[in-house]
Amino acid sequence: MSSSFGTVLRVSTFGESHCKGVGAVLDGCPPGLALCEADIQPQLDRRRPGQSKLTTDRQEADPVTIYSGVENGLTLGTPIGLFVPNKDQRPGDYREMNTVPRPSHADFTYQMKYGIRASSGGGRSSARETIGRVAAGAVAEKMLAEAYGVEIVAWVSAVHDLAFEAVDEIRITRQLVDEHPIRCPDAATAVQMQMLVARVKEERDSVGGIVTCVCRNVPAGWGEPVFEKLEAKLAQAMLSIPATKGFEIGSGFAGTRLRGSVHNDPFTAGGDGLRTVTNRSGGIQGGISNGEPIVFRVAFKPPATIGLAQETVDFNGKPVTLEAKGRHDPCVVPRAVPIVETMAALVLGDMALRQQARAPTASLGPGRRSRST
Ligand SMILES: Cc1cc2nc3c(=O)[nH]c(=O)nc-3n(C[C@H](O)[C@H](O)[C@H](O)COP(=O)(O)O)c2cc1C
Repeated sequence: MSSSFGTVLRVSTFGESHCKGVGAVLDGCPPGLALCEADIQPQLDRRRPGQSKLTTDRQEADPVTIYSGVENGLTLGTPIGLFVPNKDQRPGDYREMNTVPRPSHADFTYQMKYGIRASSGGGRSSARETIGRVAAGAVAEKMLAEAYGVEIVAWVSAVHDLAFEAVDEIRITRQLVDEHPIRCPDAATAVQMQMLVARVKEERDSVGGIVTCVCRNVPAGWGEPVFEKLEAKLAQAMLSIPATKGFEIGSGFAGTRLRGSVHNDPFTAGGDGLRTVTNRSGGIQGGISNGEPIVFRVAFKPPATIGLAQETVDFNGKPVTLEAKGRHDPCVVPRAVPIVETMAALVLGDMALRQQARAPTASLGPGRRSRST
C-alpha cells in the first residue's frame, strides 16, 4: 500500500512521469462539501513546471478533471477520482539513463527493487507523482478551511546559503509568498535567491533549499499518540515528498542548544482558554496539537539530474561520463511550496476526522441515539 496515505481521509496516487496521466483517489471526504475543479486548479498551477525561468522548461498546464465523488457541485461522500493528463513528454531526453543510473536519483534503487522500471523519466519517483497529492490536498484544505478555519501557508526560507528567517507566521499569506517567483516573502532575499538559481541553471548545476510551513487555527486536541503523533505523521508526510532530506518542528535541532528554562513555552490565560507565551513546541506537545500555530521546516536537496558532466558507471559497471539531457529543475523549493502545504492538509484533514470519531456519545445528538435504540 505504498501509494496510499491516511486513515479516515485516505489518498491513493497513481501514474508515472511519461504514461497517459497522473492522479489520485481521495476516500473519506465527508459528503456535502461544495467542490469543483476551480477549487483544485490554483494549487496545481502553483506546482506546475514552466511557471517561471527558475523551474524546469517542461511545459504542462496540468488541468484537473474530477471523475467521481461529486454531483451537482457537492461531494457525495464516495471516493473522489482526480485526473491530470501528461502532455509535454520527450522520452528521447532520457535515453542514456536507460543504461546509466543517475547519481542520487532513484533509477538504481527502483531497478534493484522491481527488476524493471518505467522506460523514461523518473516513473513513480518523478515529481509528477505529486500532482495527485496536490489535487487531493486541495480538497482536504477546503474541508479544513470551511469546517475549522484552518489556514496553511508555506514559503521558501532558504536557497543554498541564502536564508530569510524573520517571517511573521501569523500574517504571512500565499499572496505575499507568490509576489516573487522563488516564493521567499522578503523582497531583497528573494532577488538574491533568484539570481543564484538563474546562475546555477546557466551553469547546468543545481542547489537545495528549505521550505517553512505554518498551519493556523488548528484546534487543540488533534493527533493520535503514541505511534501516530501529529509531528510523526507530518514528518512522514513531508519526507515522502521527492528530494526531501530533513524535517524540523518548532525549535528543531537549534532547540538542543537552549536550556529548559529558556526553551519551555509557559502557559498564559488567553481569551478562549490557555495559550502559550512562546511557541518553541511548534504547536504540538505529546503528539497532540495545543492550539498554537504548527510550524515546521522541510529540507530539500539539490536535484540530482544536472547537465554538468559527472563521472559514474553504467548498470554494467563500465565507467561513463554522464551529461544529463532533458529539462530539469535547478532548485525544487519554489515548486515544493504547494506540495508541502498539500501534505500538511492531508495529515490535518485525516486527524480532524479521526478526532471527530472521538466525539463524546452525548454530542452525537438525539436523532442518532434514538435510531440506535
Ligand atoms: C517539485 C519537484 C521537482 C523536482 N524536479 C526534479 C528534476 O527536475 N530533476 C531531478 O533530478 N529531480 C527532481 N526532483 C527530485 C526527484 O524526484 C527525487 O530526487 C528523486 O525521485 C529521488 O528521490 P529522493 O531524492 O527522495 O531520494 C524534484 C522534486 C520535486 C519535489
